[in-house]
Amino acid sequence: MEPDQQEVEKPTDEFVHQFAKDVDEGLSQTPKKLNSKYFYNKRGDELFQAIMRMEEYYLTAAEFEILSLQKEKIAEAITYNQGTFQLIEFGAGDGYKTKVLLRYLLKMEADFEYVPIDISANVLEQLEDSLKAELPDLIVKPLVNDYFKALEQLQSNNQQKLILFLGSNIGNFTPQSAPQFLGHIAELLNPNDLLLMGVDLKKDPNIILAAYNDKHGITKAFNFNLLNRMNEELGADFDIFNFEHFPIYDPVSGATKSYLISKRDQTVTIGALDKQFYFEQGEPIDMEISQKYSIKELEQLATKSGFKVVKHYYDCKHYFTDTLWKIKA
Ligand code: AVI
Repeated sequence: MEPDQQEVEKPTDEFVHQFAKDVDEGLSQTPKKLNSKYFYNKRGDELFQAIMRMEEYYLTAAEFEILSLQKEKIAEAITYNQGTFQLIEFGAGDGYKTKVLLRYLLKMEADFEYVPIDISANVLEQLEDSLKAELPDLIVKPLVNDYFKALEQLQSNNQQKLILFLGSNIGNFTPQSAPQFLGHIAELLNPNDLLLMGVDLKKDPNIILAAYNDKHGITKAFNFNLLNRMNEELGADFDIFNFEHFPIYDPVSGATKSYLISKRDQTVTIGALDKQFYFEQGEPIDMEISQKYSIKELEQLATKSGFKVVKHYYDCKHYFTDTLWKIKA
């Protein structure tokens, strides 16, 4: 099937119930908040693909460069004990960057299976199809589950594990919640296991802010899409023209935050909750955090989470790192 003919996964009742509950909780807080994990419906996935191709969004190109130019060194570091291993990827997406590493590992005849994990069966089916066509020798064992449940499922297999968590997805956790998330991964790993994580680094604030405030308004559309999604799936009546997209970057904390600001006093009804929410003129909705780290902060994060840094791999501009960690002895 061509991608544009693919069926849209209809959200299950359980999903809609949880979505409504999270929206209720978030919009009842001060400041109002929405969980950025809900950005990713079909339209959100398309917009994110477009973001990754944008000139301003340097993150994807930087990580692609690291994996392309340093794949030999990375492969050597992850296959040091010569045994069989599982390459487990959290949130693989279309596998654009991972394929560089997979292709090289196959070429060097490494003995491994690739286990992409995603909550969306649709995403994994598409990835599996493209891998079958492009890398027919690869053993792929996709797992539709949340990351931790999947890791628990994999615990009975005592092969060495390498977790891939690319794309600076860790940046969508606050600095307070990131150690908890990574600490949970550490608890589920063995001393020989490894984590390779993509992290966006602190740099010229103008470069960072531009990545989240692009001139064509794609990031703006990505944020507005969540309002449209609530209209479609939760029977809400958000009018996107009543909101302004406002991203900021704080060079001290390293937080890039995206807000939608209410342009007027307004009331929004959410049908699925049978509830109304009042927005004052100028009131923000906190939509997303994309945290940036210095190397020192990243090393502190490793220690706090129960890991030890093996090596940082950088792009030529030192905008981004793929950092390799092992469990702290
Ligand atoms: C998925 N995540 C790492 C992206 C980021 O950079 O925080 C999502 C994104 N939001 C706006 N642009 C890209």
